[in-house]
Amino acid sequence: MDLRYGSSLAVKEADIALRRGEIAAITGPSGSGKSSLLYCLAGVLPVSGGEVLFERTNLGDLSDEELSLLRRDRFGFVFQYGELLPELTVEENAALPLRLAGQRKAQALATAGEVLGRLGLRELRKRRPSQVSGGQSQRVAVARALVHRPAVVFADEPTGSLDSVGAQVVLAEFLALARSQGTAVVLVTHDTNVAAQADTRYTMIDGVLTLQGRSVS
Ligand SMILES: Nc1ncnc2c1ncn2[C@@H]1O[C@H](COP(=O)(O)OP(=O)(O)OP(=O)(O)O)[C@@H](O)[C@H]1O
Ligand SMILES: [Mg+2]
Repeated sequence: MDLRYGSSLAVKEADIALRRGEIAAITGPSGSGKSSLLYCLAGVLPVSGGEVLFERTNLGDLSDEELSLLRRDRFGFVFQYGELLPELTVEENAALPLRLAGQRKAQALATAGEVLGRLGLRELRKRRPSQVSGGQSQRVAVARALVHRPAVVFADEPTGSLDSVGAQVVLAEFLALARSQGTAVVLVTHDTNVAAQADTRYTMIDGVLTLQGRSVS
């Protein structure tokens, strides 16, 4: 597939197949097209050429409404700064995908509480995002991305705001939780130690995605 913004090609060539539960990491220089690729894979931006398939459905064939339901129910997202809703508590933030899918509040909060517990955040669940640390809010964002057991989580430098030790701890927890529930992950990271934990590693250079390595399993 490829993606152009006006006349400039941000993604020139990308051929990637993600198996169920697979963890793929993408590294590459700033401006090489990593975020753009992620937006295409996640159905946030339509591709300019080629196609993106999810379970045999071509995302380009879906209406906006179908696409947003697919993103809501089957995908999870973690971004660089977590992006929690400040007026909601930690547990309400983490429960959001379940609430959007129509689950009752008590049930959604109970499930969110379990996931938060697995990330060591149970005690903080009644606080607001402004009352927790940067690393803790990244964990809340991880909880929110995984709480509805999506098929795929798209993560764009999910620990970009943390120092390297803090980032590695959160990422290790994130990948372990995703693995334990069989959620596939497409992770953009600048950290090669983190990329080394993935099943498949790609590099993006000047809009071209190249497979770098695959761990034997
Ligand atoms: N909305 C946009 N309109 C026009 N050009 C864009 C847009 N978004 C990104 N670009 C350009 O597309 C190219 C790829 O950008 P992208 O954000 O995908 O890079 P990246 O690899 O994620 O970089 P970084 O590591 O800095 O996040 C860059 O040259 C960027 O300037
Ligand atoms: Mg980016």
